[in-house]
Amino acid sequence: MAKNNPLIVIITAFLVLSLMLSFVKAAPKNITTDLDALLALKDRIKYDPTNLLAKNWTTSSSICTWIGVTCGVRHHRVTVLNISNFGLAGTLPPQLGNLSSLRVLDLSVNQLSGTIPSSIFQISSLERLNLSYNQLSDSFPSIILNLPSLQVIHFRSNSLSGGLPSHIFNYLPNLKILSLSSNMFDGQIPSTISKCQQLQILYLSFNNFTRYIPKEIGNMTMLKELRLGFNELHVSVNRHHRVTILNISYFDLASTITPQPGNLSFLQLLDIKNNGFSGSLPNELAQLHRLKYVNLMFNSFHVEIPPWFGSLSKLQHLFLNNNNLVGTIPLSLGNLSSLRVVNLGYNQLSDSFPSIIFSIPSLQVIDLSSNSLAGGLPSHIFNYLPNLKILNLFDMFYGQIPSIISKCQQLQRLSLSFNNFTGYIPKEIGNMTMLTELFLGFNKLHGMIYIA
Ligand SMILES: *[C@@H]1O[C@H](CO)[C@@H](O)[C@H](O)[C@H]1NC(C)=O
Ligand SMILES: *[C@@H]1O[C@H](CO)[C@@H](O)[C@H](O)[C@H]1NC(C)=O
Ligand SMILES: *[C@@H]1O[C@H](CO)[C@@H](O)[C@H](O)[C@H]1NC(C)=O
Ligand SMILES: *[C@@H]1O[C@H](CO)[C@@H](O)[C@H](O)[C@H]1NC(C)=O
Ligand SMILES: *[C@@H]1O[C@H](CO)[C@@H](O)[C@H](O)[C@H]1NC(C)=O
Ligand SMILES: *[C@@H]1O[C@H](CO)[C@@H](O)[C@H](O)[C@H]1NC(C)=O
Ligand SMILES: *[C@@H]1O[C@H](CO)[C@@H](O)[C@H](O)[C@H]1NC(C)=O
Ligand SMILES: *[C@@H]1O[C@H](CO)[C@@H](O)[C@H](O)[C@H]1NC(C)=O
Ligand SMILES: *[C@@H]1O[C@H](CO)[C@@H](O)[C@H](O)[C@H]1NC(C)=O
Ligand SMILES: *[C@@H]1O[C@H](CO)[C@@H](O)[C@H](O)[C@H]1NC(C)=O
Ligand SMILES: *[C@@H]1O[C@H](CO)[C@@H](O)[C@H](O)[C@H]1NC(C)=O
Ligand SMILES: *[C@@H]1O[C@H](CO)[C@@H](O)[C@H](O)[C@H]1NC(C)=O
Repeated sequence: MAKNNPLIVIITAFLVLSLMLSFVKAAPKNITTDLDALLALKDRIKYDPTNLLAKNWTTSSSICTWIGVTCGVRHHRVTVLNISNFGLAGTLPPQLGNLSSLRVLDLSVNQLSGTIPSSIFQISSLERLNLSYNQLSDSFPSIILNLPSLQVIHFRSNSLSGGLPSHIFNYLPNLKILSLSSNMFDGQIPSTISKCQQLQILYLSFNNFTRYIPKEIGNMTMLKELRLGFNELHVSVNRHHRVTILNISYFDLASTITPQPGNLSFLQLLDIKNNGFSGSLPNELAQLHRLKYVNLMFNSFHVEIPPWFGSLSKLQHLFLNNNNLVGTIPLSLGNLSSLRVVNLGYNQLSDSFPSIIFSIPSLQVIDLSSNSLAGGLPSHIFNYLPNLKILNLFDMFYGQIPSIISKCQQLQRLSLSFNNFTGYIPKEIGNMTMLTELFLGFNKLHGMIYIA
């Protein structure tokens, strides 16, 4: 027997291949092919609660009149197969890949199980594919053909598992939406995903992806929504060079920041708002001396504001609001001589009025709302804030509102509600010409405002 002779193996492979190629050539697909494919699908449906397919998908009528089926006017081939939410159970036949004029395949919201036939990814006309909300299992099907038409892939809420093959992203140049949430995918998110430069929405939440978010995601310029929450991911900032923007806001990340010993010294913008970050604010961040913009709002940091923030000397915008920050506001913040916006609102910061912050002339916005800060407003502070536009204090401050506040002639919004201010509303407020919003309710104030 020559069963191990490599030459014979190669020749045999060659013959099989030629046979396949000639077969494909010899059998041009037409509406009969589509009929066979749909009948193969009907045959695999084991549960059809309303007998819809049994009654409607009959060979006595043209498949173009079948429910869920739409044919093209010109070529008379099936262009849409939409049997979403028919309550069907069963498996998918490989013949689906023979629907070679299909643009839309929507089988979502059924109880389909088994594997996704990879032949689906040989339909070069396919634009939208929705298999969400089924019980499909096994791995992500292989893709070996360029699919420039394919824009949408929804596989959400199935039982797909294994890693995402990295090569598939080479073949999806116009993919706009990829939704794989709520499956059991694991392994690393392939960095090749950045080859899909048209991607706008990427949902990978509720899987078992591990390791690092590929840094290449950072240069996917069309990406608008990225959901990665509930995986085992870490934010890696390892080996970045000259990265100036790290924006992982709205990532759905529930994690701690674990900086790698890499070099992010070029970072100017750090935006991790609207995640579930908790834990500490690592000292390593203090090394990022070029930072101008830091936004950590809407996370779950439950620590004191580290004094090293005061050493980020180029800082212009600092958003730490809507966390659970505790303790006092560090005096070092007073060293941020370029600071324009500081928002520390909706935390549990305590102690007295942080005068030190109010001596930075570049400040335009100060928001300390809803903390446990208390004390009087020292009148001298308003000498140093010529650029102040917005002041929100909604805490436990008391005493009089100093009339010198009218020195802040740029002030547009002054919100001092829900404090314990007493005495008279200074009449000077009346000649603050830029002031358009004034909130003084829920204090113990008297008086009237004279509008100059
Ligand atoms: C489809 O093509 C097959 C041959 O591949 C042919 O026998 C059949 O008649 C064609 N059907 C139609 C509807 O054109
Ligand atoms: C199948 O359903 C479609 C759409 O509801 C309908 O137009 C068609 O007449 C039905 N065909 C049969 C054989 O019941
Ligand atoms: C498929 O049909 C359902 C129900 O009619 C509809 O909600 C859904 O948008 C359709 N899918 C596509 C891709 O058009
Ligand atoms: C349809 O698909 C099946 C399985 O993928 C294949 O064996 C068959 O040759 C195809 N039929 C036609 C007419 O292309
Ligand atoms: C399936 O995805 C398509 C996007 O291509 C969407 O239009 C359609 O509404 C989805 N179907 C369901 C039932 O959500
Ligand atoms: C994720 O992996 C862990 C352990 O590897 C396993 O226990 C868990 O069931 C997996 N979760 C999912 C959603 O696959
Ligand atoms: C995206 O980033 C990677 C590495 O960070 C780089 O190799 C690649 O060329 C970039 N692609 C684009 C289109 O900028
Ligand atoms: C970060 O990205 C989000 C979402 O794409 C965007 O809304 C936000 O403006 C970006 N942050 C900055 C500072 O540009
Ligand atoms: C980071 O990069 C800067 C500028 O290239 C360099 O001066 C510095 O030594 C680097 N630090 C580390 C820890 O690699
Ligand atoms: C502010 O900066 C000065 C000079 O850089 C430094 O000596 C001082 O310790 C800083 N103050 C605080 C509170 O960090
Ligand atoms: C305001 O002061 C009164 C006593 O004068 C005190 O009972 C109350 O708790 C204070 N309210 C706030 C919000 O500080
Ligand atoms: C504002 O009003 C105060 C007292 O009413 C007055 O002394 C002051 O000159 C006014 N300032 C401006 C800029 O009009």
